[in-house]
Amino acid sequence: MTQNQGTALITGASAGIGAVYADRLARRGYDLVLVARDETKLNALASRLRGETSATIEVLPADLANANDTRKVATRLQADDITMLVNNAGTAIAGPTIDMDPERLEAMIQLNVTVATRLAQAVAPGLAQRRRGDIVNIASVAGIRGDQPAISVGYSATKAYLLAFSEGLDSELAPYGVRVQAVLPGATRTELWAKGGIDINTLPQEVVMETGDMVDAALAGLDQGERVTIPALPDIADWLAFKTTRAALGPNLSHRLPAERYGVAKSDETLLSKAS
Ligand SMILES: NC(=O)c1ccc[n+]([C@@H]2O[C@H](COP(=O)([O-])OP(=O)(O)OC[C@H]3O[C@@H](n4cnc5c(N)ncnc54)[C@H](OP(=O)(O)O)[C@@H]3O)[C@@H](O)[C@H]2O)c1
Repeated sequence: MTQNQGTALITGASAGIGAVYADRLARRGYDLVLVARDETKLNALASRLRGETSATIEVLPADLANANDTRKVATRLQADDITMLVNNAGTAIAGPTIDMDPERLEAMIQLNVTVATRLAQAVAPGLAQRRRGDIVNIASVAGIRGDQPAISVGYSATKAYLLAFSEGLDSELAPYGVRVQAVLPGATRTELWAKGGIDINTLPQEVVMETGDMVDAALAGLDQGERVTIPALPDIADWLAFKTTRAALGPNLSHRLPAERYGVAKSDETLLSKAS
């Protein structure tokens, strides 16, 4: 029998990646709290998983664009049974920034960035106190390719935020035994693309991963202790090399004087003669 792993709360569990997380985590011995707007879909998933697993499954319908609903989810995350948050709900608005409806752009940033941060912050103290648990943030490879956005610049930037937030929060929570994993899927076959106005079948099919494979790889990455999981990346050494290059910039990112190439740096002598 699978050992009970506590309760995982999954946002955006009614479809796509979130629904597959629900399936896999129920089979791994987690009880579940399923969050999304579509209560009918959540109930259908919950009753299937109750039939196929021994998981206790709670349906918590919430529109995370709504502050009261978000507060309700944050409160649920503060209960003692929670051992995992899968911060998955997200949207993708496609197209050039200058053509975008500003309200939709803002709503995407709100859901992908602000709500994800708020929920992680809500769950973290309890996990830290109990010295156990995982926060899984579904970012995207778009977050490291803001220069070449497949969907939109704004979408890529929300995912860059989530990656940076995950890496930093992992450092903060590591001393408490709490893991924070950023998952960076490439193109994954879900409804997200159609909702954003892109036909996924127009992408070269060799770059599109099936949702089950993506989630299985992400969970395997977590099992292996990865804090950043890029399911499609053949060699993790490539990501580690990127991190090493980024870290090497460190000693040169903050100096008293601007770099010489700008031709504006005052020498110490000039500064001293002005002061006297
Ligand atoms: N598919 C990809 O290629 C891909 C690649 C990289 C990263 N991702 C990321 O993966 C995550 C999941 O996306 P997906 O591909 O599985 O998309 P999806 O099939 O469209 O699922 C999105 C989920 O988010 C929920 N959601 C959307 N707006 C919500 C709101 N206001 N309140 C509560 N729930 C809301 C949806 O449920 P309701 O409509 O029922 O509310 C749905 O369950 C996203 O963060 C996405 O950015 C996807």
